[in-house]
Amino acid sequence: MRYIVTGGAGFIGSHLVDALLARGDEVVCVDNFNDYYAPARKRRNVALALEQPGYTVAQVDFRDGEALERVFATHRPQRVAHLGGMANARFSVDHAPLYVQSNVAGTVNLLELARRYDVECFLLASTSSVYGSSPTPWSETLPADRPLSPYAASKRAAEVHAFTYHHLYGMPTTIVRFFTVYGPRGRPDMTPYLFVDKMVRNEPFTLFNAGENLYRDYTYVDDIIAGVTAALDAAFPFEIINLGNERPVLMQRFVELLEQITNTRARIKSVPTPSTEPPITFADTSKAQRLLGYHPQTNIEQGLEFFWRWYQDEVLNRT
Ligand SMILES: NC(=O)c1ccc[n+]([C@@H]2O[C@H](COP(=O)([O-])OP(=O)(O)OC[C@H]3O[C@@H](n4cnc5c(N)ncnc54)[C@H](O)[C@@H]3O)[C@@H](O)[C@H]2O)c1
Repeated sequence: MRYIVTGGAGFIGSHLVDALLARGDEVVCVDNFNDYYAPARKRRNVALALEQPGYTVAQVDFRDGEALERVFATHRPQRVAHLGGMANARFSVDHAPLYVQSNVAGTVNLLELARRYDVECFLLASTSSVYGSSPTPWSETLPADRPLSPYAASKRAAEVHAFTYHHLYGMPTTIVRFFTVYGPRGRPDMTPYLFVDKMVRNEPFTLFNAGENLYRDYTYVDDIIAGVTAALDAAFPFEIINLGNERPVLMQRFVELLEQITNTRARIKSVPTPSTEPPITFADTSKAQRLLGYHPQTNIEQGLEFFWRWYQDEVLNRT
């Protein structure tokens, strides 16, 4: 099977690429290697894959429909996993147009080419952020029409466009909503990396509301990939599916765990929780269990250990 994986040089996308190549699929990674965080890190993310047969990197910006069409015309993918885009709710507040261009217009470019090239399965990576501050646990039946940030709004808009393409052209489409993904290759702007980076340098870092009454449903990246590959294989006509861990972690506890694992002390500067942040994220994953046989295997204690090992090898020992 030949896949296009957008964002294939990023954190989650590069893990998906490795999983697809490992089972013998061909993969074209579409990524613009933007400098939202170090492009050198993205180059390292693709290094393993570049040693495998059946892997191609197309350094293309999917906001550019013509360049994207050349990739489709050359490689004729059977399936598309669209994981590329701009993430980070807080950063999006001051960069709303960029989020619309990347996450909405870029997604429509991909949907348009996917239907013209008869792609048999389109998967869109979305986010728990679409649930805003709805009462938890969050199930896929919630309206998700009160996003708290331009990022969340852009992802919801992309989801809605994906439905329209399915409706008009019958394109099999699955939307997967990820809940706070962490693990090796984790993004430098996300809490495990941000906090550990400060802790090993004995530098202070900000924690919303001192971590009190703040919970995140951290989901280990391998569990996310198991859900994504199962969704790609199933090629449903149209589904929206949560991929979370269903075990929200209190942020105070999260920091304590990092202190234990890294054998350091956190120097916390408490700041008020920004309005982009809900107090809790909490996935109802019953639909993923039923449709995909999804059962997360990695608890937060193990997952943070795996992250810490990667951080030591890839960050500490390289700087
Ligand atoms: N990491 C999480 O916790 C999380 C949670 C919910 C949803 N998501 C979603 O999952 C997807 C992957 O997230 P990630 O954490 O791996 O982020 P990431 O930033 O590591 O990966 C995204 C990749 O997309 C590429 N990209 C961005 N704009 C592009 C464009 N216009 N053209 C081509 N490539 C472009 C980037 O260069 C990057 O490599 C994103 O869509 C994100 O919104 C992530």
